[in-house]
Amino acid sequence: MQILPDIQLIQRPGIAEFGWGHPDPALLPAEALGQAAARALSRDWRSALVYGAHQGPGSLIELIRRRLGRLEGNTPAAEQMMITGGISQALDMVCAQISRPGDVALVEAPSYHLALRIFRERGLRVVAVPGDSQGVHVDAAEAMLHMLQSSGERVAFLYTVATFGNPTGSTLAADRRYALAAMARREGVMIIEDDAYGELWYDTPPPPPIFNLTPAGPIVRLGSFSKLLAPGLRLGWMLASPEIVRRCANSGVLDSGGGINHFTAHVVASFIELGLLDPHIERLRASLRERRDAMLSALARYLPSGCTWNPALGGFFVWIRLPTSIDSAAILPLAESTGVSYLPGDRFFAEGGGHHYLRLSFSLLPPEQITEGVIRLGKVLRRG
Ligand SMILES: Cc1ncc(COP(=O)(O)O)c(C=O)c1O
Repeated sequence: MQILPDIQLIQRPGIAEFGWGHPDPALLPAEALGQAAARALSRDWRSALVYGAHQGPGSLIELIRRRLGRLEGNTPAAEQMMITGGISQALDMVCAQISRPGDVALVEAPSYHLALRIFRERGLRVVAVPGDSQGVHVDAAEAMLHMLQSSGERVAFLYTVATFGNPTGSTLAADRRYALAAMARREGVMIIEDDAYGELWYDTPPPPPIFNLTPAGPIVRLGSFSKLLAPGLRLGWMLASPEIVRRCANSGVLDSGGGINHFTAHVVASFIELGLLDPHIERLRASLRERRDAMLSALARYLPSGCTWNPALGGFFVWIRLPTSIDSAAILPLAESTGVSYLPGDRFFAEGGGHHYLRLSFSLLPPEQITEGVIRLGKVLRRG
């Protein structure tokens, strides 16, 4: 009889797994979450175990709103926020509500590859906008928008991981954030700001979220507890106009099933009320910073000349550019037989390219295994 797995990633023994953007299970706050779950049940199990409000529990919305206000100096209104089943569920829900099959989704090149799948499954045509180490080129985005519109296409939105992006780790420069927000207002095009990594900065905080630059503009900002607390919670939040929140909250699936991951939302509310979130994030930043530092110093020491990479000021990833003679997908089998794995760059380009790039994640492995993995990668790249 086939035994089905419980979890998505089963690490292969002997391989330094740099391919997965998952947090190391050792960094997950299991005990504190147990405490929060016990409190959620003992305090008011009748609220925690019934069908939840469509927008998510008001108590959690209030806590997140106040926390964002304290951290960012901008407190969103309650009717602008909704609890989601993480960013992935929110992306699918927003596509269902604001796009039609055949519409265009503008994305960065490169872009978070699994979001591209969600867009395509909703029947969207994905079109890439060029960028550089400072993020997407706003002028190019606007020109592309006009070109598509003049050929009769409907652009549903522009999707960006503006802060510590996946895969590049780069951050949209402050002036481009203002320019993008202004473009969204002027053109009436929706921006979806995927903010999975914004709180995971290791040196200095990033520029303000695009949403905060134009709170009444056509911006949807998506946050997640996957990287901050634990992916298995499947919990996040959305900030958008009251109109979009209303549309999403009125969807049939919520009418039938109540708010998404309602019990988990109560557990996370208790976690915040117990004062456990901020100290946990501080510790998480310290551990991830140590791993980031281990990866950057090993790369400098062991990668052959001709390879270049970003400094990874936050998030989970280092994006490596290889000499053009090396195709990262072609040498992956050799890398894995040498005991190291990564994601080839071509996965992240909606319209082809990226063959001499690769993405490394430093979130899953402790520093000594990171160093060992980079030593192996260096050997492979010298042979490739
Ligand atoms: C940019 C980005 N967005 C979204 C996700 C998934 O978020 P969630 O677990 O909240 O669905 C990831 C996970 O790797 C990610 O890197």
